[in-house]
Amino acid sequence: MDDFSTRIVRVGELPDFIAEYLAGAPPNAILPITPQRAKAQAHNPAASADDPALLLALSSGEVVGYLGLLPVFLRDGGRVSKVFWFSTWLAAPQVRGRGVGRMLKQKALSLGIDAVSTGNIHTRQVNRKLGCTEREPFVFYSLDLTGVTLFNPLRLGRRALRKALHALGRDFAVETASVRAADRFLATPLHKTIAARLRAYADSWLKGLKIAETPRIPEIPPQEPRPLPVASFHRPPVVVNWMLEYPWVLPRAGAPHFNYHFTHARDEFRFQAFTLHDGKRYVGFAVFSLSADGGKRWVKALDYHLSRRLLPNAVLALALKVAIAWRAHRLELPPELAEPLKAHPLTRPLLSEHKRLYQAWFAAPNSPLAQAWERLTFGFCDGDTAFT
Ligand SMILES: CC(C)(COP(=O)(O)OP(=O)(O)OC[C@H]1O[C@@H](n2cnc3c(N)ncnc32)[C@H](O)[C@@H]1OP(=O)(O)O)[C@@H](O)C(=O)NCCC(=O)NCCS
Repeated sequence: MDDFSTRIVRVGELPDFIAEYLAGAPPNAILPITPQRAKAQAHNPAASADDPALLLALSSGEVVGYLGLLPVFLRDGGRVSKVFWFSTWLAAPQVRGRGVGRMLKQKALSLGIDAVSTGNIHTRQVNRKLGCTEREPFVFYSLDLTGVTLFNPLRLGRRALRKALHALGRDFAVETASVRAADRFLATPLHKTIAARLRAYADSWLKGLKIAETPRIPEIPPQEPRPLPVASFHRPPVVVNWMLEYPWVLPRAGAPHFNYHFTHARDEFRFQAFTLHDGKRYVGFAVFSLSADGGKRWVKALDYHLSRRLLPNAVLALALKVAIAWRAHRLELPPELAEPLKAHPLTRPLLSEHKRLYQAWFAAPNSPLAQAWERLTFGFCDGDTAFT
C-alpha cells in the first residue's frame, strides 16, 4: 500500500486543477472529474471553497484512483447543515484489488465528515466493512411506456417458466436476444396505444392550469405548498437552479472524448423545467430530465413543489405528458407519484419497483447527520442522483 499517496482537491481548486490536468496528462490517462462536473461543483450552493471535492490516489505522480465528494444540504427541522455525498469512486484497472479504493474511503472518513453513500452491491459490501450505518432502502418506480413487460407473449411465457423452474430450485433467464427482438417489434404499436390512454388521463388532471417551460424555477414558494418532511436532504430552489444551470451530462454531439468511467455524455440529454399557474396564482414547478442513449429513451421526474390540492396527480400528469412527447420507453418516478398508477388496472402491471440503499458515517455520535438519520425522509433526487 505504501506505493500510493493521496491528495485532496478542494472545491475552490477544482477549475484550475482540471484545466492543468487536461493540459498535462498523457492522452489515455484516466480523468478523475470532467470539466463540466468541476465547473458545477465550484458553483455548488451547499459548498464552501475549502470543502474537499475530490480525493486522488497517486502512484509516481500519476492518478490511479479517485473518490468524488459532493457537499449537500441536510435539513432537520429549522437547522440546515452539510453532508458529503460519496459520488464517483474508481481504482484504475491496473491497481484494482490492491487497496486503493479502500484507502480513498478511509482517507475521506478520517476528515471527520458526515458522509452518505448509495451504490452498487460491491460498493455496499466495502462500505459495510468500513463501518457504515444503514437504513431500510428507499423505493422508487419506473413505468414501462412501451408495454412490452406486460404484452410481449415471449417474455410472459419465459417468465412463467422461470417461476416454475425457480420452485424446483433451477435458474432460468427471461431476457434473451429473441425476447429483446420481440420487444423492439412490439414496442411502437403498443407505445401508441398506451400513450393515447395516458394522454387522456394527463389532460384531465391538467385542465385549467397554465404550464410554461422555464430555464429557472422561481425562488418563491407556491400557494398552499405541501409541508416539507421533518428531516431530509434539502433541495431548495437555489439547488435546483444550480443543477439546471450546470448539467453534468452533455449531448454526445460536440462532447469531447474523455477516459471517464461515469456518465459524461448521452446521445441526447436535457433538463426540462415548468411553472404551473392557476389563473394568475403561481401554484408550483416541476423538473424533469430527458435522456436518449443506445436506442433507449427515458424521462425522470425530478424536483417539484406544488400546491397541496394538485398533488400528486398534476405532477404525474405532467410527467406522463413530458414522457410521451419525448417518446420515452421508461418514466422513472418517486414513490408518491407512482401511487395513482398503482391503483389503475392498465398501469399497475407496467410499474417496476427499484430500491436504493443509503449508507452513512457520522462525524461524531451527536453530529447533525447522526441526530437526523433515523428521522430522515429520503427523496428521489437526493445527493447527486438527479444530475444523471
Ligand atoms: C470499486 C473499486 C473502486 C474498489 O477499488 P479497489 O482498489 O479495487 O478495492 P480495494 O482493493 O481497496 O478493496 C476493497 C474491498 O473491495 C473488494 N474487492 C476488491 N476487488 C474486488 C474484486 N475484483 N471483486 C470483488 N470485490 C473486490 C474486497 O472486498 C475488498 O475488501 P477486503 O480488502 O476486505 O477484501 C474498484 O473496483 C473500481 O474502480 N470499480 C469500478 C468502478 C465502480 O464500480 N465504482 C463504484 C461505483 S460508484
